[in-house]
Amino acid sequence: MSNDQIEAQVVDLDNLQEHREIVTFMRRSSPLNTSQTTALEQHREMILEYPVGDLRQHFEHPERPLTVEIGFGMGRSLVLMAKANPERNFVGIEVHIPGIAQCVYEAGVAEVKNLRVLDADAIQVLREMPDNSINTIQLYFPDPWQKKRHFKRRFVSHDRMPLVEEKLEIGGTFHSATDWEPYAEWMLDVLDNRPRLENLAGKGNSYPRPEWRPQTKFERRGIESGHKINDFIFKKIS
Ligand SMILES: C[S@@+](CC[C@H](N)C(=O)[O-])C[C@H]1O[C@@H](n2cnc3c(N)ncnc32)[C@H](O)[C@@H]1O
Repeated sequence: MSNDQIEAQVVDLDNLQEHREIVTFMRRSSPLNTSQTTALEQHREMILEYPVGDLRQHFEHPERPLTVEIGFGMGRSLVLMAKANPERNFVGIEVHIPGIAQCVYEAGVAEVKNLRVLDADAIQVLREMPDNSINTIQLYFPDPWQKKRHFKRRFVSHDRMPLVEEKLEIGGTFHSATDWEPYAEWMLDVLDNRPRLENLAGKGNSYPRPEWRPQTKFERRGIESGHKINDFIFKKIS
């Protein structure tokens, strides 16, 4: 499907009476390969079914700090982070089924035990979480929604950030990254003007790319296209 065809469908969705809430994603259907199909069966214990309630209850050690990643794509960087941080719990939320399948496949190979994933709109999942319950929310290379009429779909916005702020613990962090310079400027403008958040790089600055954040598929694509990568880490201060 061409980009124009996808965008035409998005506009159709916007016009549907019953589709009142503007979402930040576009569901794509693509076939699963054999190992992905097998992985969905084999690693069912890693896959949560929506509605999920308090995400912490799905771990053997619910008291451990929780990281939630929104839109993990194919999931490799999330698996690497979970593997590198066994003392934390990780939940990945994605609406792309091949991504969920690939993620649990790789987590199975890496014998990662502290990761759960689910197919759902992250906004709905966050709404079900108790306030002050998440230590880290990460959003890497979110869809930039480049056309002006789609800006309302951008995840980082004054409409959606209050939910993120409510669900983070005090001292918890929101970490985003993008390779799309206009979205980077937009993110900074939104996030620097959220009174409950503090820019850990200082107002007006992006955060130096942390070496502990593994490269993602969309990041690699951005770099190959010559794009600059901007990370932003904001701490909840009130
Ligand atoms: C541009 S891709 C980036 C994927 C990955 N983070 C990477 O860097 O390679 C954005 C992903 O976010 C997912 N997404 C967007 N909004 C979402 C939401 N509200 N809940 C769950 N997933 C979402 C999309 O399905 C898509 O796979």
